Amino acid sequence: MKFGHFDDKEYEYVITNYNTPLPWINYYGQDGFFSLMSNTCGGYMFYKDAKLRRITRFRYNNVPRDYGGRYYYINDNGTIWNPGFLPLKTKLDSYKCRHGLGYSIFESEKNDLKCELLCFVPLNDLCEINQLTLTNNSNKVKNVTLHGVIEWCLWNAVDDQTNFQRNWNIGEVEIDDKTIYHKTEYRERRNHYAFYHTNIKHDGFDSDLDTFIGLYNSWCDPSAVLNKTSYNSKASGWSPIASHMFNLEIKPGESKTIIFQTGYVENEDDKKFEKLHVINKEKAYLLQEKYATKEQVLKAFNDLKNKWVTLLSTLNVKSDNEKFDRMVNIWNQYQCMVTFNMSRSASYYESGTGRGMGFRDSCQDLLGFLHLIPEKSRERIKDIASIQFEDGSTYHQYQPLTKRGNADIGGGFNDDPLWLIAAVSQYIKETGDYTILDDPTPFNNKEGSEKPLIDHLRASLNYIITHKGPHGLPLIGRADWNDCLNLNCFSKTPGESFQTASNFESGKAESVFIAGMFVLYGKEFATILKNIGKNDEATKILKEVKSVEDATIKYGWDGEWFVRAYDAFEHKVGSHECEDGQIFVEPQGFCTMARIGEDLGYGKKALDSVEKILTNDYGVEILHPCYKEYHIELGEVSSYPMGYKENGSVFCHNNPWIVIANTVIGNNERAFDVYRRNCPAYLEEVSEIHKTEPFVYSQTIAGRDAKNYGEAKNSWLTGTASWTMYAASQAILGIKPDYDGLMIDPHLPKEIKNAKVTRIFRGVKYNINITNTASGKYLMTINNKSIEGKVIPFDKNQSEVNVDISL
Ligand code: GLC
Ligand code: GLC
Repeated sequence: MKFGHFDDKEYEYVITNYNTPLPWINYYGQDGFFSLMSNTCGGYMFYKDAKLRRITRFRYNNVPRDYGGRYYYINDNGTIWNPGFLPLKTKLDSYKCRHGLGYSIFESEKNDLKCELLCFVPLNDLCEINQLTLTNNSNKVKNVTLHGVIEWCLWNAVDDQTNFQRNWNIGEVEIDDKTIYHKTEYRERRNHYAFYHTNIKHDGFDSDLDTFIGLYNSWCDPSAVLNKTSYNSKASGWSPIASHMFNLEIKPGESKTIIFQTGYVENEDDKKFEKLHVINKEKAYLLQEKYATKEQVLKAFNDLKNKWVTLLSTLNVKSDNEKFDRMVNIWNQYQCMVTFNMSRSASYYESGTGRGMGFRDSCQDLLGFLHLIPEKSRERIKDIASIQFEDGSTYHQYQPLTKRGNADIGGGFNDDPLWLIAAVSQYIKETGDYTILDDPTPFNNKEGSEKPLIDHLRASLNYIITHKGPHGLPLIGRADWNDCLNLNCFSKTPGESFQTASNFESGKAESVFIAGMFVLYGKEFATILKNIGKNDEATKILKEVKSVEDATIKYGWDGEWFVRAYDAFEHKVGSHECEDGQIFVEPQGFCTMARIGEDLGYGKKALDSVEKILTNDYGVEILHPCYKEYHIELGEVSSYPMGYKENGSVFCHNNPWIVIANTVIGNNERAFDVYRRNCPAYLEEVSEIHKTEPFVYSQTIAGRDAKNYGEAKNSWLTGTASWTMYAASQAILGIKPDYDGLMIDPHLPKEIKNAKVTRIFRGVKYNINITNTASGKYLMTINNKSIEGKVIPFDKNQSEVNVDISL
C-alpha cells in the first residue's frame, strides 16, 4: 500500500495520506542551522550539534510518538485544525505534504479554507522559515484565529530532559510585538539566543508553556487556542515557549500570508547586551528584515531549489528504469548529503544526544558525497584523521562541535584505521589532487604532532600489520565493522556497553573481514605509492598484503564461503561447524571485492552461498541461522532477538557490498537483483510492511526469523546511503573515478538497455551514452573515435567529452 507518490519533476515525495506507518521525515539546513520535519509538522531544530545546542524541544519516546514541532492552530468558526493533521487530528478535506530537497510544503484544506505552509532553512542563514498562507475558497467572509507555537529547548538536550531542579528556574525570554527572544543562560556563560518572529504584529502572545496549554490540557487542546485568545504570559523559569496569535478577517477569494521565523544568533562577548539584561538584537533584526516579505521568501526558496539542481547535476542518469534513475539522481544523493551533515546524530531513531561522529561511519559516508562537495570532503578527512593516534589506532568517535575524540568510548575498533585509506584514495581519484597527502594533520589533535596525511595512512596499515593473531589474520579488538561482534568483551552486567566492557582481552580473536579490508585497501595504498614514485614502499606493502591474503585463503575459507572470525578461544565464527551464525555476509562482500582466492573460485562460491542462504525478499540477511541464545563470547550480536539488527536482519549497509562483489565476478543480473530488493523506491508499494520512508534507506529490515519480517527501522542516517550510491554509480553504471581519468565499466542488468549519464568530473562534463545489448563485448568511442581500455584519460583542456559505450 502506498501513502503518497514520487514527483520526480519537482524532486519531491508527495505524502497524501497523513496516516503513514511511521513519521516520515525530512531535513533542512546546510551550514549550521538544522531542522527535522515530519509529515505532521513534528520535529525540532538545532545549531550544529543536536546535543549541545538544541533550539527547540522534542520528546523522544513520547505518546503519541511524533509530538511537538511547529504547530499552527487554525480556528475557523469553531472548527480547529492543523495543516499537518497533528496535534488536533481534525479530519482534513485534503492534505498533502511535499517533502523536497531541504524543504517541505504542506497543502491542506478544511471547510473551504486552504492553508499552504512552506518550510525551509535558507542558504547561508541561521533560521527556519515557515510561510503560512490562508486562502478563503468559500463565498463568505471568514474570521479566523491563528496560533503559531514552538517550544524552546534549554540548549543542552540532555540537561533539558534530566536536570529539572535547575531547569525550572532558569528560563528567560524577552518579548516585543513581533518577536519572542529565548535567552535562557545568556546572562552568564552563553553568547547565543534564539527567537521566534513574525513579519507582522501579532494580536497576542504566550511564552509560558503551562499558561498557553493549561496545566491539565495538552497539545490537543491548548487553553489559549480553545479560548481563541492569548494570555500574554511572560515565561520565568519553567518551560519557555513562543506563541503568536493573529485574528484574521479573510474575504472570499482572498489570501493572507504570515511569515514565521525561528532564528539563532551568536554575539561576541563584549557585544552581548544593549543595556543591563537587555540582549543585543542587531543581528536578529538583520535576519528578520531579510525574510520580511513574500518576495524575499520566494527568492530564498528558489535559491535553495537551484542550489540542489546544480549540485545534483554532477551525476545524472536517464535510463529505461524510472526507479533506478529516481534513486540515483535524487534521493540517494540527497540522503548522502544529509548523512554528511548529520552523521549518526539526529533522526527519529538517533536522539541527537548519543553518538558523536563515527570514525568509520564518516569515512564511509565520504564515498557517497565526495563527487558533490570535494572541498568540504577534504576538510572532513582532516577532522577525522586528527583523532587518530600515532600507532595508527583511532578514537572511535568525535564530537562535531569540539572535533575532539570521545574518551568515553575510546578506541580499539580495529577496522577503523583502514577506512581512512578508503576515504583518501577515493578523494584522490575524484579530484586528481595528490596534495592532500601532504596536508599537515595532527595525531589525537595534539599541537605539534602534525605529520603529512600520508603518514596517517602508513600508520593505519602498520597498525594492522603489527596486530595479528594466531592465524596471521588481523586482530579484531573490541569489534570491527560489525559493532556487535564483541569477541574480547564478555559482558555480564546489565546495561553496560557491549563494546567497552573489557574484562577479557584475549589478544587472540581475529577478523576475516578486516583481512578483506586490508587486502583491498592495502593494494589501493600501494597503487597510490607507485603513482607518487615510491615503488619500494609499494612493494613492501604488497608483500604484507600477500601474507594476509595467504592467511585468509588458508584459515579464512570454510569450503563454501569465507569464515567470519576466530573467537578468543580460536574457535571459528561463521562456519558450517557452528550451530548458529554459520555464515555472515560481511567477509563474502569484502573478500570478493578484494579478489581473495579469485583463481580458486572463492568469490563465486561465496556469492552463490549468499544467494542460497542469506537472501530474502528484502535483501541479504547479515547472518544465518540467527543466534537463539546469548553467547557471552560473541557479544551483542547474540543479544538481539532473532531477525533484528545484527542478529539476522537485512542490515542494509552491507547489501551494496554484495552488489559490488557480484559485479566484480561479472554477475550483473544478480548485482541488480540485490540492489532492487532493498531499494526504497521498489518498496514503496509495500509501505505498510516496510513502514519507513519510501524515499530513503533504513539501517535494517527485519529478517525472516523476526516476528515483523520486512519491517524497516532506523531510516536516514546509515552508511547504506553512501555505499548504495557507490554501488549504483560506480559498480552498476560503472562510472568510476580513477587516478588517471574516468573509468567506464558498466555492469548493467539486461533489463536496462540504455543509460545516458552526465557526470561532471574534475570540472569536465562527460556525456556518456551506454547501450547494453548484453553481447559481452565492450566498445568505447570518445568523440566518435574508438579507444582501447576502459579509462578516459583526463584532459583538463576539454570542457565536454562525448562517450559512447556499447556492451
Ligand atoms: C551501525 C554503526 C556502524 C556499524 C554498523 C554495524 O550502523 O553506525 O558503525 O558498522 O552499525 O554494526
Ligand atoms: C551499532 C549497531 C548497534 C549497536 C551499536 C553499539 O549502531 O548497529 O546494534 O547497539 O552499534 O554502539
